[in-house]
Amino acid sequence: MALADVPVPKLQARAEACAERLLQADRVLLASHIDADGLTSAAVASTALERAGLPFETVFEKQLDADSIAGIAERDYDTVLFTDFGSGQLDIIADHEQAGDFIPVIADHHQPADAETEFHLNPLLEGIDGASEMSGAGAAYVLARALAANSGQDERLDNRDLAALAVVGAVGDMQASDGELHGANEDIVADGVEAGVLEETKDLAVYGKQTRPLPKLLEFASDVRIPGITNDERGAVSFLDDLDVECRADGAWKRWVDLTDDERQTVASALVQHAVSRGVPAFKIDRLVGTTYVLREEEVGTELRDASEFSTLLNATARYERADVGLAVCLGDRGSAYDRAKELLRNHRRNLSEGIEWVEEHGVTTEDHLQWFDSGEEIRETIVGIIAGMSMGADGVSRDMPIVAFARKNDEETKVSGRGTGPLVSQGLDLSVVMREASQAVGGDGGGHDVAAGATIPAGEEEAFIDHADRIVGEQL
Ligand code: C5P
Ligand code: C5P
Ligand code: ZN
Repeated sequence: MALADVPVPKLQARAEACAERLLQADRVLLASHIDADGLTSAAVASTALERAGLPFETVFEKQLDADSIAGIAERDYDTVLFTDFGSGQLDIIADHEQAGDFIPVIADHHQPADAETEFHLNPLLEGIDGASEMSGAGAAYVLARALAANSGQDERLDNRDLAALAVVGAVGDMQASDGELHGANEDIVADGVEAGVLEETKDLAVYGKQTRPLPKLLEFASDVRIPGITNDERGAVSFLDDLDVECRADGAWKRWVDLTDDERQTVASALVQHAVSRGVPAFKIDRLVGTTYVLREEEVGTELRDASEFSTLLNATARYERADVGLAVCLGDRGSAYDRAKELLRNHRRNLSEGIEWVEEHGVTTEDHLQWFDSGEEIRETIVGIIAGMSMGADGVSRDMPIVAFARKNDEETKVSGRGTGPLVSQGLDLSVVMREASQAVGGDGGGHDVAAGATIPAGEEEAFIDHADRIVGEQL
């Protein structure tokens, strides 16, 4: 084996073992998760397999459980590569491995279940935080680098270009939610910068810098609420009109990317001053500036140019049963798949804003240690977690307790999503444990990360689940 200079040395041995195993396979079944991180994981892994000359097929699963793993086992593949899931279901996967159904190779960042397997690349096994320092796409990227080094492929194709997709996955998993990426994620960013596919800049930390007209950019930037601008269209317009910056071109509003560096500086400073004058506290004002990850090879002014906008575009496909569309975009389709993705994005945006409105209108129920809501059939189960996370800090929803959300899956099953915050995790919150133990206590199953986790439970067990979850959170905090 050649020595792969993988970007995260602690994972080198695991990456090489996984790569070596894959290179022995006749063909590989690649299974991945249906969200932005799962799609980018699949895109990174499938590109790496292709470049290494390995035949493969890709499948997506909403959730990996006994049934979906049994379905995978029935396919006639000797090697199955799981990306962005697999660790949490290691017990079930290991049973299939022992039965000789397939050899698993796992590149994941979820909390592993209690079982062992040989080809397992997961940051948590080497003391790297899987919720904040490396995503599924990051794990797939480390594997891709090892594959490039060991496959005998043209060494100019060292797979560093795939770092851009890995960063989209990390940002999509909210790993930059405090303003920038950390730890192993930074090493991946450095690879992408060196390869010329990524650029990191300190910039205004609001969503939509590539695509939104300026007033909308400011009006909808709700992370830091600025009175007179946030959710205030007229306020945002008059704020922009009062500046000594030409914010329109040919009568239409410019976007952030259309401004010069000086103009951006002027708008950003004025925004900070405005926030100070309206009494926004200093720690929140700090959050107005953050690191932006730009995909240099994508066209300026498109969703694809900005890691955060790109990841939302991907969620808009995969969480609506169109993972094929998102994957095609990741793999370079800028024609019909990209057009379809943009349509799906409009639909996704509408669903998110309606979902948050629904939560604000119906409110949450507060227990001793957590708050929860049951959206029944009103919110799609594949996006209820995103909405739960976004609703924290909205009207009537606290950021001082974790939030649990229910959505109807079908007549028999209810989907549960849990979301916390960085400060709650520092105080001991681990939602992966809460979701796993509370769901198992009522006949379901779940897992995930400390700050964000999910479960499926039998319909009708919601209240019993809340009792267990409330008690476990109480013990943790
Ligand atoms: O399955 P996967 O790991 O890809 O999903 C992670 C989920 O956790 C994403 O939906 C992401 O939005 C959420 N998350 C969060 N806050 C964080 C970290 C992750 O809401 N700080
Ligand atoms: O579905 P949701 O966005 O709430 O998922 C949050 C996190 O919990 C994701 O990382 C997801 O993979 C994980 N999860 C899990 N088992 C489930 C449901 C979600 O590990 N049954
Ligand atoms: Zn992930």
